[in-house]
Amino acid sequence: MSFIHLEQVSKFFSNSLQPAVDALDLKIEQGEIITLLGPSGCGKTTTLRMIAGFEQPSMGKISIGDQVVYDDHRSLPPEKRGIGMVFQDYALFPHLTIEKNVMFGLNKWKTKDRKLRAIEVLELVGLADYASRYPSELSGGQQQRVALARALAPRPHVVLMDEPFSNLDAGLREKMRFDVTNILRKANTTAIIVTHDQKDAFAVSDRVVVMKDGVIQQVASPREMYRCPKNCFVAQFVGKTNLLTGKLEKDMKHVTTTIGTVCLPNQTTEICETVKLSIRPEGCEIVAEGTGNYCGKVERVTYSGEYQELYINFQSNSSSDPMVIYAPIDQEIEIGSVVSFNIKSDLVCVVE
Ligand SMILES: Nc1ncnc2c1ncn2[C@@H]1O[C@H](COP(=O)(O)OP(=O)(O)O)[C@@H](O)[C@H]1O
Ligand SMILES: [Mg+2]
Repeated sequence: MSFIHLEQVSKFFSNSLQPAVDALDLKIEQGEIITLLGPSGCGKTTTLRMIAGFEQPSMGKISIGDQVVYDDHRSLPPEKRGIGMVFQDYALFPHLTIEKNVMFGLNKWKTKDRKLRAIEVLELVGLADYASRYPSELSGGQQQRVALARALAPRPHVVLMDEPFSNLDAGLREKMRFDVTNILRKANTTAIIVTHDQKDAFAVSDRVVVMKDGVIQQVASPREMYRCPKNCFVAQFVGKTNLLTGKLEKDMKHVTTTIGTVCLPNQTTEICETVKLSIRPEGCEIVAEGTGNYCGKVERVTYSGEYQELYINFQSNSSSDPMVIYAPIDQEIEIGSVVSFNIKSDLVCVVE
């Protein structure tokens, strides 16, 4: 049995005919770190708030552990659900010290135990030396670790974090992705993190749930999601890709497109003749002139620092979008030149 189970959970707000969350089914295992990933307005926060008990579903059932926390007959209040919440703005009390902030959620504990537990979780997040400071005396990353310590203090079954990295600048963000996962793993807790940032999601999660318009598009590990996106939306949301339409050959392993025949990594189970392919830019490898299976004219080059993005036009395909492929930064590429390349089939995928 899974640890957290959402069954057909929907939410309609009174001001809209469209559901904010639409018949969501999701199972989460104990100790898993899951992210809800999707564009703004797709229902991530609403889902998190329904799990926490801050928002009532319009329909469906939610279980945490062996307890039904919401269905047609009951709705447990947030404080009875065994959840720890980290809000986007951290929501620390400015007039309380770090230690008192962390002790806040332990009001039912004995005073001595509260203090010991506060020190224990502050040690876990590496801030034991800051116990007597006030939130304004800490950096953004430190404040976030305090918020996490406060959420973890009552030993919740689940930690919920809404956009935990969005207030941090790029460098700190990378460090906090690492710190937060480390802390969650050490605390051995189950966590659901909401983010609109694919890099955040991939860096911190065991599994990613991609949502669009209140509907789950795909649930998969970061690697599987990137390599085998289920549909065009997921393919484009989790990284750059080229979407090409083609004719599936009888062997179910090759697709004939306007750029040539593309080999699939595995035989597909698609039954339609016309299929859509996602081809990742880094799956295309430039080779010596005339030796590759595909060739096209370089229309534009964008230097990213780590690689060059080449926008390739194909004579037979000049009316459609150019294809983007990556080339090493030390490769001399002239605009207008013709490049020859091969496609690694494991970064090719049939999408819906
Ligand atoms: N309290 C509310 N009242 C009315 N509509 C809401 C409320 N909260 C969220 N919504 C709507 O529900 C949809 C999903 O919102 P939300 O869950 O906040 O998305 P996300 O967190 O993915 O950006 C949006 O269309 C939003 O406008
Ligand atoms: Mg949100």
